[in-house]
Amino acid sequence: MRILSGIKPSGNLHIGNYLGMIKPMVESQQRGELFCFIANMHSLTTLFDAKKMIRYTNEAILDLLALGIDPDKSVFWIQSDVPEVTELTWYLNNVTPVGLLERSHAYKDAIAKNIPPNNGLFSYPVLMAADILIYQSNIVPVGRDQKQHLEITRDIAAKFNSTYGEIFTLPEPEIRDGIALIPGLDGQKMSKSYGNTIEIFSEEKAIKKKIMSIVTDPTPVDAPKDPDKSTIFSLYKLFASDQQASTMEKRFREGGYGYGEAKKELFQVLWSYFAPYHKRRAELEKNPDYIEEVRKKGAAKAREQALKTITEVRKLVGTV
Ligand code: ADP
Ligand code: TRP
Repeated sequence: MRILSGIKPSGNLHIGNYLGMIKPMVESQQRGELFCFIANMHSLTTLFDAKKMIRYTNEAILDLLALGIDPDKSVFWIQSDVPEVTELTWYLNNVTPVGLLERSHAYKDAIAKNIPPNNGLFSYPVLMAADILIYQSNIVPVGRDQKQHLEITRDIAAKFNSTYGEIFTLPEPEIRDGIALIPGLDGQKMSKSYGNTIEIFSEEKAIKKKIMSIVTDPTPVDAPKDPDKSTIFSLYKLFASDQQASTMEKRFREGGYGYGEAKKELFQVLWSYFAPYHKRRAELEKNPDYIEEVRKKGAAKAREQALKTITEVRKLVGTV
């Protein structure tokens, strides 16, 4: 069973990204053959700065390796290192009805946000279909926001198969509904676009400062508080042991326990969770030769599979 996952490099991962996407991806290395890549070609639809592209891509490699992607247990590569994907995108473009792309929520949302509607943004789902289909992926775990992209992928695959012959495996989406939305500093969904994030790899002090800035209500220290309405407790639960969580819950309900103290405890559990990853990331950063080797080996493994598919596709479309 081949599981495929792509992540756009956008700099500064936050703990919502970690719990919502990266942790499940790291865990999926145990249950199947994980193909995991950094979708830098997708970032090009909205990022027009080469220096930033390179920086974000290199950061994403370090982040994912530090957080547990193991290049010996998975195939881990950079999207642009496999040029066959863009060739496949072109073949797929010609069996993709424009209407299918016009219905894309992601495209409509981008227009609504005044993002210039270039053709890359419009055909984003076709490149994503090529990513998935070229590796003959069985399962694609995604957040709810990507569900429609998976449906488009299946439609494109079915259309290609019926036009030219059965070549593509139809992928199954695996929607991560179980993971609740992680709240940000202001209690809304943690998101870069709301400026309410706690970044995983910020300095210790900066993380502490963010946590101390979590918005709280004006309930006095002495008064009992409802833990279920508190962002501090919601985040604490995600990283603390069951015993730690029930202790904090009790203290909230009893009163005489201030938000400031609770924030300090939240920082403690969060820091002890992420400190080993910081250490690992710093070690990786000192070893660019190793990173380069990981990148090359991953690209070679991914390309081997991509070449198999594209060779068959060329025969089917007649570009041999
Ligand atoms: P942002 O909203 O900060 O721009 P992205 O949309 O780039 O984050 O997030 C990439 C993935 O990370 C999402 O598809 C989702 O799976 C996960 N994710 C992001 N924010 C959260 C959150 N607050 N709670 C749970 N998962 C999240
Ligand atoms: N579009 C995905 C996102 O924004 C990233 C992505 C690109 C992807 N290609 C993919 C995800 C293939 C899964 C499979 O999160």
